Amino acid sequence: MKRLEGKTALITGAARGIGRAFAEAYIREGARVAIGDINIDRARETAAELGEACVAIEMDVTKQDSIDAAVDAAEEALGGIDILINNAALFVAGPIVEIDRADYERVWAVNFTGALFTLQAVAKKMIARGKGGKIINMASQAGRRGEALVAVYCASKAAMISLTQSAGLDLIKHGINVNAISPGVVDGEHWDGVDAFFAKYENKAPGQKKKEVGLGVPFGRMGTAQDLCGMAIFLATEEADYIVSQTYNVDGGQWMS
Ligand SMILES: NC(=O)c1ccc[n+]([C@@H]2O[C@H](COP(=O)([O-])OP(=O)(O)OC[C@H]3O[C@@H](n4cnc5c(N)ncnc54)[C@H](O)[C@@H]3O)[C@@H](O)[C@H]2O)c1
Repeated sequence: MKRLEGKTALITGAARGIGRAFAEAYIREGARVAIGDINIDRARETAAELGEACVAIEMDVTKQDSIDAAVDAAEEALGGIDILINNAALFVAGPIVEIDRADYERVWAVNFTGALFTLQAVAKKMIARGKGGKIINMASQAGRRGEALVAVYCASKAAMISLTQSAGLDLIKHGINVNAISPGVVDGEHWDGVDAFFAKYENKAPGQKKKEVGLGVPFGRMGTAQDLCGMAIFLATEEADYIVSQTYNVDGGQWMS
């Protein structure tokens, strides 16, 4: 039996990477999916590859007009939104004394403010529809503790864990479950960028940091986007109805909390 038959989902930042894998997994489980991404060309390519159950919508989560228009468009295309995955994010790294205000504002605007106001826009629709819903926020092991070179990204992901707690407590009375997934290190284009930051700041050869973090995972390798899909599906099903405000580590044993 397909576990998300008849369900609809808006997934932000799903043109590539983990969000794309979630879109694919949801469609496999019978859902229809709207990809909301600032990179509309890539989102359209992805949607075309995933087939008719998938639609691409241009969405910049840093702009309220764009969030509202994208949520309206997703609702219209899908006939209502049952599931939101707040997945879009940016990464930046560097020593504290070199944090650039513009970089900080850019990352915070996507990773936290964008997620908060996308959650709000979708929650309003879910409340008006009266059928409850599932909201899944993407946190990170980076939100579980600080990292010397990663202050801004770590703080944005800690804020996602906190938002998940508060929004979950406020929205459960409407039958809306808010929970989060906290991945560890997941190979892909995002981590190519992370690797490049560490190559610069820790004087490493390209690819070396990836190798090191992979060896440091108790499971024995970096994660893949597919490793996260089971949790993303589960949290969107009725089996997770009694789960409120939680953040789940899916990280090969990196973090325990
Ligand atoms: N890859 C990892 O190791 C890892 C680890 C922990 C958590 N995460 C989290 O998982 C999520 C997905 O990560 P990923 O590795 O697939 O990242 P990614 O960089 O591959 O994908 C991010 C997507 O977000 C989109 N995006 C960027 N700015 C946007 C904006 N303003 N509006 C809409 N879309 C925008 C990008 O176009 C891209 O498609 C993120 O929240 C990330 O922080 C990733």
